[in-house]
Amino acid sequence: MTIINHPKTYSPIGVFDSGYGGLTILKELVATLPQYDYLYLGDNARAPYGSRSFDTVYEYTLECVKALFDQGCELVILACNTASAKALRTIQQKDLPKIAPNKRVLGVIRPTTEIVGNYTKTKEVGIFATSGTVTSQSYVIEIEKFFPNIKVFQEACPMWVPLIENNELDGVGANYFVEKHVQQLLQQSQNIDTVVLGCTHYPLLKSLIEKHLPKNIHILTQGSIVANGLKDYLFRHPEMEARISKTKSLNFLTTDSTELFDGHASLFFGQEVKSKHQVL
Ligand code: DGL
Repeated sequence: MTIINHPKTYSPIGVFDSGYGGLTILKELVATLPQYDYLYLGDNARAPYGSRSFDTVYEYTLECVKALFDQGCELVILACNTASAKALRTIQQKDLPKIAPNKRVLGVIRPTTEIVGNYTKTKEVGIFATSGTVTSQSYVIEIEKFFPNIKVFQEACPMWVPLIENNELDGVGANYFVEKHVQQLLQQSQNIDTVVLGCTHYPLLKSLIEKHLPKNIHILTQGSIVANGLKDYLFRHPEMEARISKTKSLNFLTTDSTELFDGHASLFFGQEVKSKHQVL
């Protein structure tokens, strides 16, 4: 009897975010690992996730992960700190064994917390993130595991994502809210020498954050950290690496209007984007 193994023709790396922020991660993934196929899904219709409850973020994230699995993804990156903080562990431990035991879902918090200790000399680190990520305490818990002597100071910035999603980067509003949260973080400690932009939207505010932060404070963005983390993961998991298709394709899905998405996404991704609508 001959068993024919049909080669899987399309098995991209799925990259998920509540909206546009994950595109800052995708950009670095493609630059670092250009050989793979990528499929991005932005849940723009329900963004932002940052102030939503644990149950809602979990439910929305799981729906999106399933949609990416249905499109052929074997590996999905939650390129969203809020989803990584509130949904990743439950999806990995409870859902995957039932719905897709051979597939994998990874987040963005762990690769960031693994390396943060390489940057700080004062051992005091600041985290800018959404309210959801801050209240989950994920950064505090994860950094403690790798660097127990580092003190973590968190600042929730609930207005930053709405300002970015609404293309209000240059206005007085963005300047006001960035200055406010930078000051509030610095009031917690004068010794912070490293800050993490713990939301994938925030790289778009980097120059404004730099303007208000003292020059000696190092700003960590997650794109290249996550890309190097994935490179390392695929090296350590050759069985997964072999399952990812490699035709260098890039596809984009949004749960909201494709016109809106395409018009805004290039700001995050740095090149033109043509998306398709995803029904959940
Ligand atoms: N970009 C997402 C993150 O990294 C969250 C944005 C949102 O509030 O939906 O946390």
